[in-house]
Amino acid sequence: TRYSEQYRPQIHFTPDSMWMNDPNGMFYYEGEYHLFYQYYPDSNVWGPMHWGHAISNDLVHWEHLPIALYPDSLGYIYSGSAVVDWNNTSGFGKDSVPPLVAIFTYNDRVGEMNGEIDYQTQAIAYSNDKGRTWTKYEDNPVLTNPGIKDFRDPKVRWYQPQQKWIMSLAVKDHISFYSSKDLKNWQHESDFQPELGAYGGVWECPDLFPIMDEVSGEEKWVLFVSINPGAPNGGSGTQYFVGSFDGHEFINENKNLLWLDYGKDNYAGVTWSDIPEEDGRTLFVGWMSNWLYANKVPTERWRSAMTVTRELKLKSERGDLILTSIPVTEFGTLRKEVKTKEQLMIVGSEKVFQEIKLPCEFILGFETINHSEFKNVSEYGFSLQNQDGEEFIVSYNTTKQELIINRDNSGVSDFSEDFNGLQYAPYHAKSTLNFRVIVDWASIEIFVNNGERVLTSLVFPKKNYDTISAFSKDGAILINKADLYELKSIWN
Ligand code: FRU
Repeated sequence: TRYSEQYRPQIHFTPDSMWMNDPNGMFYYEGEYHLFYQYYPDSNVWGPMHWGHAISNDLVHWEHLPIALYPDSLGYIYSGSAVVDWNNTSGFGKDSVPPLVAIFTYNDRVGEMNGEIDYQTQAIAYSNDKGRTWTKYEDNPVLTNPGIKDFRDPKVRWYQPQQKWIMSLAVKDHISFYSSKDLKNWQHESDFQPELGAYGGVWECPDLFPIMDEVSGEEKWVLFVSINPGAPNGGSGTQYFVGSFDGHEFINENKNLLWLDYGKDNYAGVTWSDIPEEDGRTLFVGWMSNWLYANKVPTERWRSAMTVTRELKLKSERGDLILTSIPVTEFGTLRKEVKTKEQLMIVGSEKVFQEIKLPCEFILGFETINHSEFKNVSEYGFSLQNQDGEEFIVSYNTTKQELIINRDNSGVSDFSEDFNGLQYAPYHAKSTLNFRVIVDWASIEIFVNNGERVLTSLVFPKKNYDTISAFSKDGAILINKADLYELKSIWN
């Protein structure tokens, strides 16, 4: 097989070699989903940033393409976005083919080292050949720095009602919105800094996009704000807000602060641009790591992977509109035949599947038993185990109403003091709890009740996990669904 090193993801995107962080510039054009990423081709730790590039026709299998953007005298190429300029507003188009335009941050390393504060600016580049080659605009930067140290990660989208582009930009502890008619001249529109937000770190990688509330039939706007540090389980994480946008200002309407993923390892994710209307999905990918230890995880040839591509939807929950995430339907093509277990009653601990092969996907449906004898089950869940006694444990605490992940004994963790520690997600479960779990050689993604909660975690077991067990404490629990699928590697 093509990628068979220990810990090499089999069903997740990784660079062929060397360092990767944030996904950048995702757009769809002429049958190809493009994915760019923060890339340092000369080392397996972070360094002078380039934009690496890959394409896919199904969001599952990826083809590596040459580096799209190299650093130059204006700086390193930091995170940003890309759009199809259908109306050729930028004038970069040729022969009536719409240009593809990338909008990114230049990080002037010299200025940064000299202690200046205005070293981050926004710039553009374009492609006239389906993204195969990119030309930087000769009048870069297009948005200069107003004297603020953290001023980066432009995410641009077309705002149809007012025929203009909107840029969301992370500015230290708030999001600034800018608008433009041509992607070259930008005007400040407004700033967003809600009382509700998390402020334990620097704001990064915003994304503003509309999404349909299928229940009310109303269009809502979502704003992502990644923050590092300051996530609920430590280090990097992505908070989001749901509300309205009028081409000028975003207004949050939710009562609670929400997180896209409660696991420690999903950061700086954003959505795909230019998904055709007849498809209409909101598609997401995140960087599957955390700045607490990203540079130290025990891989050599490459470092980091992306999450599986996920579809996002709106759902109401206790007075808020929340986002649900599930793997894109295309992911199902990786499934081999299913293994199923009949209904199981769990008292204590029991093995559900043994001798499993990775990568795999499994679904476990739990149901609390409505009988006086069994009412006080305090905690239940499942674990993945290997022959070295390492295990990864997922549970639901019925009194605290929270999901808990324990990877303290899941494998190698001595590369960082920050890797261990429980991960929590608040969740009010009713009588059923359904886990859909995707297990790769070095990661576990857990989608709870159709993606109402998601927990993404890296793991570095010395041997692959080969057993799935279920358990309950202080009572019994019913498993009414247990399906297991081995998955095909995306690289072969
Ligand atoms: C987020 C981030 C961005 C920045 C990039 C640099 O992980 O810090 O804010 O543009 O990474 O690689």
